[in-house]
Amino acid sequence: MEKFLTGLKKKALMDVSKAADRTALEAVRVGYLGRKGELTALLRSLKDLPLEERRRLGPEANALRGELEAAIQERSRAIAAAEKIEERLDITKPGHRMPRGHLHLLSKVDAEVRRIFTSLNFSVVEGPELETAYHNFNTLNIPADHPARDAWDTFWIRREGKSPMEQLLLRTHTSPVQIRYMQTHEPPFQIIAPGRVFRYEATDASHAFNFYQVEGLMVGSDVSLANFKYVVETFLVQFFGKGTEFRFRPSYFPFVEPGLEVDMRRKGGDWLEVMGAGMVHRNVFDAVRYNPDPPAGGVQGFAFGMGLDRLAMLRYNVPDIRLFYSGDVRFTQQF
Ligand code: FA5
Repeated sequence: MEKFLTGLKKKALMDVSKAADRTALEAVRVGYLGRKGELTALLRSLKDLPLEERRRLGPEANALRGELEAAIQERSRAIAAAEKIEERLDITKPGHRMPRGHLHLLSKVDAEVRRIFTSLNFSVVEGPELETAYHNFNTLNIPADHPARDAWDTFWIRREGKSPMEQLLLRTHTSPVQIRYMQTHEPPFQIIAPGRVFRYEATDASHAFNFYQVEGLMVGSDVSLANFKYVVETFLVQFFGKGTEFRFRPSYFPFVEPGLEVDMRRKGGDWLEVMGAGMVHRNVFDAVRYNPDPPAGGVQGFAFGMGLDRLAMLRYNVPDIRLFYSGDVRFTQQF
């Protein structure tokens, strides 16, 4: 009987240490300590032994039960710890591909426009998106009662104010940057001013309520419309490639005289307006205290305002301007 007890102990502890998971360990426990378990049966049979043997073996058998229970508990903790590690780190799982971002199409087009104009010796300058009515309208030859203000539906931030300098708005075009630059620099110079503009207007496939423009301004003693044509044609050919069709047609903007617009032929055959332009109006030069009379040592110049979104639409065949602002990765990932 004693031998049997020693053998049982050895076998039971071995089984416990070999149990690989919770189920196996539970089976071992039931096998020894369950109602019909081997150790349970042995303990139960003690009562049939002679008193002396019972006194000797009883404590030993009970000690074995304690030892076995402790071993099972210990093993159970080890299994739980191993499972936790496995949950955290399963080195057999396939790796995740990390998604990589890239520049938005409008940012790429913006960079390309800057690159081309820089190569033509233009400097890049910027101005604020929150503007005064003074810079956005008044100094551009658009006084408060001028009907041309209706052409730019405005997001007003503060409309009431004693002076146009106190009236604040989201700039409706990049032309106020012309004013800010001329107020602080002397000609001759040639600059572009790319940036975001805002208009309180209904949207459609070619109109957004916020979009991007690139302003251009070249001022000097003998800058003419011929210079404008050369610069713009050079830009358009570099940006779109040879063979692109564009047309210049007369138009009206209060801050230029004469004024014109440039359209580009779309793939479908129709025309899309890409910029407004013209020779800077003398009232604008007056507002920034430039002399507008070349014979008297003054200056003249050309200005233009291109729709950056429109350029991107034409070059990359984007059918609807609103796609740029949709935040839809199915769109942005195509470029
Ligand atoms: C202007 O904003 C003038 N400041 C341009 C200018 C500058 C003229 C300097 C003369 C001298 P216009 O509102 O037409 O003009 O807008 C210029 C260009 O911006 C348009 O040709 C078009 O390409 C683009 N554009 C105008 N409105 C929208 C709009 N809602 N959504 C997207 N692009 C627009």
